[in-house]
Amino acid sequence: MNAPLRRVLVCGAQGFIGRHIVQALREAGFTVRAGVRVASASRLPGGVEPCPMDFAQDTRPETWHVRVSDCEAVINAVGVLREQPGQSMDAIHHAVPAALFSACANTGVRRVLQVSALMPPDSRTRYAQSKRQAEAALLALRAEGRLDACVLRPSVVFGEGGASTALFQRLARLPWLPWPAQAVRPRIQPIRVEDLAAACARLLTVPESLPATLDLVGPERFTLPDFIAALRQAQGRRPAQLLVLPAALGAASARMGDLCPSQPWGSETLALLGADNIADAAPLQALLGRTPRSVLEGAAA
Ligand SMILES: NC(=O)c1ccc[n+]([C@@H]2O[C@H](COP(=O)([O-])OP(=O)(O)OC[C@H]3O[C@@H](n4cnc5c(N)ncnc54)[C@H](OP(=O)(O)O)[C@@H]3O)[C@@H](O)[C@H]2O)c1
Repeated sequence: MNAPLRRVLVCGAQGFIGRHIVQALREAGFTVRAGVRVASASRLPGGVEPCPMDFAQDTRPETWHVRVSDCEAVINAVGVLREQPGQSMDAIHHAVPAALFSACANTGVRRVLQVSALMPPDSRTRYAQSKRQAEAALLALRAEGRLDACVLRPSVVFGEGGASTALFQRLARLPWLPWPAQAVRPRIQPIRVEDLAAACARLLTVPESLPATLDLVGPERFTLPDFIAALRQAQGRRPAQLLVLPAALGAASARMGDLCPSQPWGSETLALLGADNIADAAPLQALLGRTPRSVLEGAAA
């Protein structure tokens, strides 16, 4: 007799984090249903079943029932850093995930992982607020006993194919690093994308109930300029000169970035970089059964 398929729906399967989650799940023996935007469904690896979806529009739980009902678990790795026309952050981060979570509860899918983000609790950015609303929707269903769900909160995620990874690597090549004063002191605790993906695969196999939240952080804490300097050193380059921009100039450049929503720099990004993004690595270490790997290993690219 054939073993039953252990099917997992991964939303955002072609994103940076989603691609690595898909790979880790397949290596762990799961069958992946890949939630993708129609436009990008053709780039999937063989053996992965595409499932078109639109996080700007699919706000009704009924739309999701057929997509999730034959799945053992669901992982949501859809997100945007900046809002685009017709792509509201409230829909993508909150209204649609809330519908997805309700559909899981309605159809008996117990395990749901929501890739959120490590953010200061008092952050007033729309990014943080919309993500927190999705977390609250998921945790409410969990509190009612309808889901065995976990909110994953990564710090900066580092790895091949990541937009922020590419940006940090580019900044590390500059002999002078202009940096806004408000983002000089806050610390990050970057995690390798492979460790994040391994944590997802592990959470789908542990027999006990999941923790409500799990912070996903690496073994080292850096200020952002120190992190870029460490990447520069890994590239074999001599130390760069840090040019601290006055806070008003940093804010003005972020406002200029606000005018161009297709690129990552803007006032919300500056606000997110202006606060610590660190947490205790022990829970992730316990889950993985090993220390998370340093992002600096093999960072010479
Ligand atoms: N990267 C980090 O350092 C980091 C840190 C903390 C938290 N996070 C969170 O992790 C999640 C994934 O981030 P990422 O770095 O993997 O970003 P990414 O590479 O930009 O991937 C985002 C994914 O969301 C999908 N998506 C966006 N709008 C959509 C829509 N309207 N309908 C359906 N799918 C849509 C994208 O689909 P397409 O492939 O079609 O574009 C893509 O698959 C996000 O929620 C992000 O906030 C990331």
